[in-house]
Amino acid sequence: MTRTALVTGGTRGIGAAIGRALKASGYRVAASYHGNDTAATKFKMESGIPIYKWDVGSFDACTEGVREVVADFGPIDVLVNNAGITKDSTFHKMTPEQWSAVVNTNLGSLFNMTRQVIEGMRIRKFGRIINISSINGQKGQFGQVNYSAAKAGDIGFTKALALENAKGGITVNAICPGYINTEMVQAVPKDVLEKSILPLIPVGRLGEPEEIARAVLFLAAEEAGFITGSTLSINGGQYMA
Ligand code: CAA
Repeated sequence: MTRTALVTGGTRGIGAAIGRALKASGYRVAASYHGNDTAATKFKMESGIPIYKWDVGSFDACTEGVREVVADFGPIDVLVNNAGITKDSTFHKMTPEQWSAVVNTNLGSLFNMTRQVIEGMRIRKFGRIINISSINGQKGQFGQVNYSAAKAGDIGFTKALALENAKGGITVNAICPGYINTEMVQAVPKDVLEKSILPLIPVGRLGEPEEIARAVLFLAAEEAGFITGSTLSINGGQYMA
């Protein structure tokens, strides 16, 4: 049976690698994005994966966006809540906008997106919700009170939703990537990355987006039905939760 997967923030970085891996494994894949039209168009041309533009921070935009995807592909079996942003700042300098933007995009989106698909999954008795949290939601990170709070929230969301849907063939899991070689991590000031982050990664390098995509494939599989409510750390040994 061909399953349909929707990956949010699916045109760059980790999301793009997830979409490509799902497609290569035989899923029908749709990717949502919000800001970067040029990158999204390039991704679509290269991967052949259709793209949809909406803001996952808006419930109404998610309703409309998911409606479009379902009209094109049919019901969504696998939802990968990957879209996320950073607005790093020490807390004593953080603005309300930096707080709300990150919490809304990185945590609010899990409600906005998952609420669109959960009822159908319950009726069809199959679903895979995979939330891309972060090492920094597990351990905290200097300069990321907003991001760490939202990503920790993603883990609580995962566990509670997993409980509610465990009997219905729906699994809900979180992946916590460490520092992965993406534009988001490349935006960290070079000296901070080199002095405060890289030396803390026992494997001795950044992760690659494909190393996260591999775990998504594992959790999305039919055979992964007994794995629910789990938090999978993929961080090169930087934090062992
Ligand atoms: N741990 C401890 N101290 C730190 C620190 C750290 N990680 N980073 C900075 N400091 C210290 C500095 O050494 C400095 O101390 P002194 O004044 O004694 O020299 C003080 O904090 C202020 O530092 P800055 O001058 O750099 O302060 P700033 O306000 O200009 O910037 C910052 C602070 C925004 C936090 C900046 O350091 C930064 O961007 N850090 C990176 C944060 C980070 O790791 N983000 C992860 C992004 S990737 C991601 O989020 C993906 C994922 O899921 C893993």
